[in-house]
Amino acid sequence: MYKLLMGTVFSVALTGSVMAAEQVEVLHWWTSGGEAAALNVLKGNLEKEGVAWQDMPVAGGGGEQAMTVLRARVTSGNPPTAVQMLGFDITDWAEQGALADLNDLAAKEGWDKVVPEALQKFSKYDGKWVAAPVNVHSTNWVWANKKIFDELGIAEPTSWDELIAALDKIKAAGKVAVAHGGQPWQDATIFDAVVMSTGGPDFYKKALVDLDPEALGSDTMKTAFERMAQLRTYVDDNFSGRDWNLASAMVIEGKAGVQFMGDWAKGEFLKAGQKPGVDFSCFRFPGTQGTVTFNSDQFAMFSVGEDKQAAQVKLAAAIAEPGFQSAFNVVKGSVPARTDVPDTDFDDCGKKGMKDLAEASASGKLFGSMAHGHAAPAAVKQAVYDVVTAAFNGQVDPAAATKQLVEAVAAAQ
Ligand code: GAL
Repeated sequence: MYKLLMGTVFSVALTGSVMAAEQVEVLHWWTSGGEAAALNVLKGNLEKEGVAWQDMPVAGGGGEQAMTVLRARVTSGNPPTAVQMLGFDITDWAEQGALADLNDLAAKEGWDKVVPEALQKFSKYDGKWVAAPVNVHSTNWVWANKKIFDELGIAEPTSWDELIAALDKIKAAGKVAVAHGGQPWQDATIFDAVVMSTGGPDFYKKALVDLDPEALGSDTMKTAFERMAQLRTYVDDNFSGRDWNLASAMVIEGKAGVQFMGDWAKGEFLKAGQKPGVDFSCFRFPGTQGTVTFNSDQFAMFSVGEDKQAAQVKLAAAIAEPGFQSAFNVVKGSVPARTDVPDTDFDDCGKKGMKDLAEASASGKLFGSMAHGHAAPAAVKQAVYDVVTAAFNGQVDPAAATKQLVEAVAAAQ
């Protein structure tokens, strides 16, 4: 009996250790309902292949907190297998030699041909694939409660003036016009759209991508700050510090009219059982039609011990797989990170997202999002956050904010 029992214990322990060999530890900030649902698609696919998923979630939209935790992990010599990462952060880690080389897999699977150039710029470093792109999001969207719009007879606004008229109507009806969470990255997400709407694509590029001091300090930028201040008058009293998904919930529940947010917001509407065109609508931030400010979540693969590499490659392959790219992005609100995935399974917002992306890319109107790390490295992004948040909260007036922006961006480079 004793022998029998020991045998069982031994074989359980053995199974455990065999399974542990095929394991990935993934650090990410996908903790909202919609985000978690999307991530489950990836977990499920890997588990089917016998790869166990060790979850390392670090809450905080935009990923700042996750990046802080990551630094601590790498400093202690124990990096996770893979880390959700945005744009210039990937380049930073690659520069430090911390990332793995995925070239064999990328060549075998033909990634060069199917991943758009704008994404490859970040997935590759020095000719080597170091990250697997999972999606393309964009930040210049409006998410609206359709019932409120219909009841108040509001058409989708296409210009700044129409937007203000719409917000006035919603406010007059006793609703919160703009659902917003006062966190620097959320303020900056709106700023992406306001700068694009105010100055157009050339101005956005000059100011936020090229970091041209003249554009940063221009009257157009001052107008953008004035518009941010104007938008501030449409949020509720409790906006400070609110998480983005709770702001989405205000629109979902009919307490607020609109949210200005990237298309990860759609994941929340879908998770709540809502349908585009029925319960909510999605349209481009007024004045930014035809342009796209994008960010792409990629899984940066860290240099890990040989015993962990097979599982890491399986993870990267699972991320790039076309069927996964469709299934995941349908739930997440983003669009595929490869150009050969059909839009068949996507809803109208997703189809529009894919079409807008392709058109903006073809016409030179696709730009990296400043708020989400695709326009400039982290230090500059942080400097922009600081000025934008102070301005949004009325701590500095638009003229002073414009001046501070020039100085802060210069100091951060
Ligand atoms: C973005 C990320 C999205 C979404 C959002 C809110 O930076 O790219 O995937 O998760 O943060 O958490």
